[in-house]
Amino acid sequence: MKTNYKILVLSGDGIGPEVMREGTQLLSLAAERYEFRIEFQEGLVGGASIDAYRKPLTDSVLESAKGSDAVLLGAMGGPKWDSLDYSIRPERALLGLRQELGLFANLRPVKVFSALASASTLRREVVEGTDLLVVRELTGGIYFGQPKGVTKLPDGTERGVNTEIYTTPEIERIAGVAFEAARKRRRKVTSVDKANVLEATELWRKVVTRVHQAKGYGDVQLEHMLVDNCAMQLIRNPKQFDVIVTTNMFGDILSDEAAMLTGSIGMLPSASIGGKVGMYEPVHGSAPDIAGQNVANPLATILSVALMLRHSLDQAKVADDIERAVEEVLNEGYRTADIQEPGCRLVGCKEMGRLVQEKMQ
Ligand SMILES: NC(=O)c1ccc[n+]([C@@H]2O[C@H](COP(=O)([O-])OP(=O)(O)OC[C@H]3O[C@@H](n4cnc5c(N)ncnc54)[C@H](O)[C@@H]3O)[C@@H](O)[C@H]2O)c1
Repeated sequence: MKTNYKILVLSGDGIGPEVMREGTQLLSLAAERYEFRIEFQEGLVGGASIDAYRKPLTDSVLESAKGSDAVLLGAMGGPKWDSLDYSIRPERALLGLRQELGLFANLRPVKVFSALASASTLRREVVEGTDLLVVRELTGGIYFGQPKGVTKLPDGTERGVNTEIYTTPEIERIAGVAFEAARKRRRKVTSVDKANVLEATELWRKVVTRVHQAKGYGDVQLEHMLVDNCAMQLIRNPKQFDVIVTTNMFGDILSDEAAMLTGSIGMLPSASIGGKVGMYEPVHGSAPDIAGQNVANPLATILSVALMLRHSLDQAKVADDIERAVEEVLNEGYRTADIQEPGCRLVGCKEMGRLVQEKMQ
């Protein structure tokens, strides 16, 4: 097994550098303790890159990303760059990285920690114990399909068009990601489509079924669910799900719905994978309103580090231990401001990072 990894760290803007510091410190500590080596490289991205190089993503950062084992991303953007043209806005860097690294699968785990179950808008008994993973197809479907656009009609009205397109290889590769992920979890995949109405997703269902049968995933249970039912089931009984795999648009919507089961954006990690190099980042943005105040919650970034260890570095045991450390710290009542509740022990970003590190010693 490989034990020497190159990680590109792109902290970005706002709270990005603060939360990233806690993520990389924990990773260094884990490397020491579990005897693997991490070689960190750093780069500017987003607003920080615009300030230095007048563009949100430089070729040299892209080259470093391609030459690394994984990329850790903080967050990008902020009011300082909001008036720039859309084509050079900080967030464009994200699209550029996804495209160039061939990241066609977005993974969003949603785990409701018992200690935080009351932060959800749903009742504790509904959400407590929820531990699911949304696998969203990221580079195809209706967001990219042609024809698209708005045209004027002769009678003066307008016509808007978007096209849902999926090909067999696109479906096969995302299904493969879902089945492989399920094997590292509880071995159940729910494939979500609208096969009763949309032909493109009828194909989706057919191909997912074929991959399940033909590629030897008999050890993983597969079920199909219509997207409207899935939206309902996520609220009714989220504990029934292990891995949900779905199209770009359905995944966009369902992953936000699923995220809200936890009630706290500062806790949610994500991964984009598919090519040789995976990219890992917290779901939240750069939170300019709290940047530089040592109040940001670093746990989404720390949990993104765990995801990276599991999916890109094949260090599942270290990932499990980090997730357990986070759970212990929460069980002891420590909270950053975004997840605080009466009687909790309020801590800042650095303190929260240190507490998790202590559990990993
Ligand atoms: N992937 C990304 O880099 C990404 C994602 C979303 C938004 N953005 C950008 O971030 C900027 C701010 O966007 P926004 O305000 O809509 O979303 P945001 O996620 O940055 O903030 C939303 C709210 O959540 C709070 N919050 C977010 N992360 C937190 C954390 N770790 N700890 C505690 N509180 C946290 C913020 O203080 C704010 O009140 C914009 O420029 C936006 O374009 C970037």
